[in-house]
Amino acid sequence: MGLKTILNYPPREPLAVLPSPFHLLSRASERWGQGRRIWCKRDDLTGALLTGNKVRKLEFLAAEALNTGCTVLVTAGALQSNHCRATAAVAAQLGLKCELILRGEEQELSGNYLLSKMLNAEITYVSRRTTGDEMTVHLADSERRWAAKGEKALTIPIGGSDSMGIWGYILAVEELMADMEQNALSQVAIVHATGSGGTQAGLNAGVLLHGASADVISYAVCDDESYFNAKAQEDWENLRAYRSELPDEPIKTLTSDKYIGPGYGRAGDEIFDTLAELARLEGITLDPVYTGKAYHGLVTDLSQNTFPSEASDIIFMHTGGVFGIFPHASAVQAALGRG
Ligand SMILES: Cc1ncc(COP(=O)(O)O)c(C=O)c1O
Repeated sequence: MGLKTILNYPPREPLAVLPSPFHLLSRASERWGQGRRIWCKRDDLTGALLTGNKVRKLEFLAAEALNTGCTVLVTAGALQSNHCRATAAVAAQLGLKCELILRGEEQELSGNYLLSKMLNAEITYVSRRTTGDEMTVHLADSERRWAAKGEKALTIPIGGSDSMGIWGYILAVEELMADMEQNALSQVAIVHATGSGGTQAGLNAGVLLHGASADVISYAVCDDESYFNAKAQEDWENLRAYRSELPDEPIKTLTSDKYIGPGYGRAGDEIFDTLAELARLEGITLDPVYTGKAYHGLVTDLSQNTFPSEASDIIFMHTGGVFGIFPHASAVQAALGRG
């Protein structure tokens, strides 16, 4: 273990069911481990509607909203965004209003989109081709619209990945270190899906700040390796900019962009085959957008001897996303036919 920094966390609204369970996947280890053990950190069990990694970030973002007198949470993402659904759930739970700026058009309700509507989020539709920078402009416009109505909005960037959201996974590393201690794990590789970079930034910052003996391997689901390495570093730098007590050194990042497949939100048969097999073996369901790609990347790298860590214990971070499977029912059905 390296040096530990004494951390002064910002205020946090307790919303998630924590600590999340941690357990060995013994049959998956036998099937895919190549002599290594695969463990699972069940962040998919952080709450029924709050499920996944987003709620860890939202605990800090919601506290910021409440402490600054905000009455509305506004965020942005894809029509089936897990982060947007979790934000809508947090807002409803705290009695706040919520606006979601979603890429796409009004359509039949399904998956996260259905849940966000049920949770009473006000939805603003924008073009599917809206870029991240354009979303930032939409968020600023929304903040002004709410102000004109006498409301105060907290605008949360895509994925809740900013210098406040990052605290969620800095804190999660403390939890992981307790899991490691309880299970006598001295050196691990932590594997997860990276989509907006915040979980990656938080995990790597947490490893640095808490001195954890862990390599963090981030499997990209959209942009490439250099984008994510830079984005995670940027989140860390933005945090350091207002926290001068934090060490003046970069975080270590290790991104693999080999398993994005046809693109964000689209997955090949191999992903559906792997997630169907894991469900059969361990009773754990992954989604084809995030966790399925990361898990498939992990087991493929293990089988090809290209996994970039020597650790004999691997922790797969299950970051949630179960509702993302329902819009892909026919691809799952085809995988079941093949299996
Ligand atoms: C289920 C799931 N896993 C992983 C991620 C990636 O997390 P991040 O956006 O922090 O990179 C997301 C969101 O983007 C997600 O919804």
